Amino acid sequence: MTRLNSDRRHQVRFTLNGTAVQGEAEPRMLLTDFLRHQIGATGTHVGCEHGVCGACTVHVDGMIARACLTLAVQVDGSELRTVEGLAPARGRLGILQEAFRRHHALQCGFCTAGILMSLDHYLRERRKPTEAELRDLLSGHLCRCTGYTPIIRAALDAAELLAEHDSAER
Ligand code: FES
Ligand code: FES
Repeated sequence: MTRLNSDRRHQVRFTLNGTAVQGEAEPRMLLTDFLRHQIGATGTHVGCEHGVCGACTVHVDGMIARACLTLAVQVDGSELRTVEGLAPARGRLGILQEAFRRHHALQCGFCTAGILMSLDHYLRERRKPTEAELRDLLSGHLCRCTGYTPIIRAALDAAELLAEHDSAER
């Protein structure tokens, strides 16, 4: 096991949405702070800072992670995906993002990045989720504005469109 000197800053290198990035972090620096302050990737939001609200949700090596419960040094060598990586091209929105826009599934947007990252991960595996399954998934996210109903509508709509997209590609 690598021992980290708590007084020293360590080089952290990883791939962020397909681009190699690097910076220096003290061993105790959170991934949220590293992303936002070292890399300038401010799409990942910080709410509770103790794993409850879901605002900071990102993908690390294809798995869902709370960036506020992850140390920056832990992701050295990993592949990260954040909300900035969801759009297929500059100026365009992905299917899930479009569905959020259509259904007014955000207001202040504070929770939105984390919810999109969780749904993006979930809908890759499950193209036909039930409303109950989506509500269960969203129980890991706090939204103080929307009442969740438009988020569920957007997720169901996106799931349908993604399934159509799959069959069109086959
Ligand atoms: S900021 Fe990470 S779960 Fe709330
Ligand atoms: S849109 Fe404001 S907290 Fe969810």
